[in-house]
Amino acid sequence: MEKKQIAVIHGPNLNMLGAREPGTYGATSLSEINESLRRKAKKNNAEVQIFQSNHEGEIVEAIQRASGNCHALIINPAAYTHTSVALRDALLLLDVPVIEIHISNIYKREAFRHKSMIADVVTGQISGLGSAGYLLAMDAAVEMIGA
Ligand code: DQA
Repeated sequence: MEKKQIAVIHGPNLNMLGAREPGTYGATSLSEINESLRRKAKKNNAEVQIFQSNHEGEIVEAIQRASGNCHALIINPAAYTHTSVALRDALLLLDVPVIEIHISNIYKREAFRHKSMIADVVTGQISGLGSAGYLLAMDAAVEMIGA
């Protein structure tokens, strides 16, 4: 049986996890998160395609590539969560489960972070559970797509 494909997209500044505001985002680096995601996918007989960019257009293109090429998408758009109509429009291309994840609880932070431009076009959202949220997102994806 073909392995289910789960796309993971990380937005701007997430390449600095571990060094970046550890009080807010924790000590785990992005490569550690990606390694745990790969391990979990393998256990579930699925494959992950992981992408990170600090550029909005590149993230739009990654979402476009994911469209038609994955069974689920996990995305942390980081700061673009709060600003990007382009990301929102791109996500509307997908007809597979999309999980929005934030390491911090965006609703407990500054008012400008309370608004997610994508919350109403994704399947569900995880916010505030730390980097473990990525693994919980993968659990949910696996459950939904039956990997
Ligand atoms: C974030 C929350 C955003 O508000 C912020 O701009 C980020 C990370 C999170 O994972 O908690 O860069 O998406």
